[in-house]
Amino acid sequence: MTEYVSVAPDDRAEARSGIIKLHGPDGFAGMRAAGQLAATILDALVPHVVPGVTTGALDETVYRMMLEAGAVPATLGYRGYTRSSCTSINHVVCHGIPGDKALKDGDIVNVDVTPILDGWHGDSSRMYLVGDVSLKARKLVDVTYECLMLGLEQARAGNHLGDIAAAIQAHAEKHRYGIVRDFCGHGVGRLFHDSPEVIHAGRPGTGPELRPGMIFTVEPMINLGRADCKLLEDGWTAVTRDRSLSAQFEHSIGITDQGCEIFTRSPGGFDRPPY
Ligand code: MF3
Ligand code: CO
Ligand code: CO
Repeated sequence: MTEYVSVAPDDRAEARSGIIKLHGPDGFAGMRAAGQLAATILDALVPHVVPGVTTGALDETVYRMMLEAGAVPATLGYRGYTRSSCTSINHVVCHGIPGDKALKDGDIVNVDVTPILDGWHGDSSRMYLVGDVSLKARKLVDVTYECLMLGLEQARAGNHLGDIAAAIQAHAEKHRYGIVRDFCGHGVGRLFHDSPEVIHAGRPGTGPELRPGMIFTVEPMINLGRADCKLLEDGWTAVTRDRSLSAQFEHSIGITDQGCEIFTRSPGGFDRPPY
């Protein structure tokens, strides 16, 4: 049995309890502002994601933009993580740690940012193409974006989380790609990671029912090869076990009476590459 609770304005969210929060207009306004900041930062990165730039330099840019906007990076100090973004190159599935590594021609890279603005977490990530990227890598990136958007087409009141998962899974499997099961989307709001867990592969009609006021991320990770992941020694970096390429896009959304509102849509129209 899924439990839901309506969140009162100004309610300082408690730690995750398994109960799904239903947010009001103030939550949507807060997430709209935080989400648009995340999207603006991802837009501003476009000219910076070029061969030779280090992921550490990109992270510095993200940090500066967040502070300038009056926000703080949710990842900084989160469970011991010390950066303002995650930068996941090629076979890195997610949670790549920015550092001295320089991007090179032909790389694909995901940048994932979460500014906390006025207490609300805007969580979003996109893929960037570095220089000349192979057709097979570009196709993986395209299909992964389509997976996210086909999932979001199912994000409306009365549907279930399983409907989102099934739409993503069907599209990825049509292309014989692997859908990562080790990491999920999540409720988001005043908390970074809240209930529910949002799976990216599953059966239609299963899982919690979607209700107006729910706010969560959808963030499918799709592999060119098998779905299996492993964690590197640093305790964060997740890679594909078969070292095949992996892609991911992430939006933060809210369920409305009409369908869903995408809080993290690109203001510049840079939702999908090429930018
Ligand atoms: N932004 C990631 C997500 O989509 C979480 C990153 S946590 C970190 O949920 F510590 F690795 F940065
Ligand atoms: Co997320
Ligand atoms: Co994220």
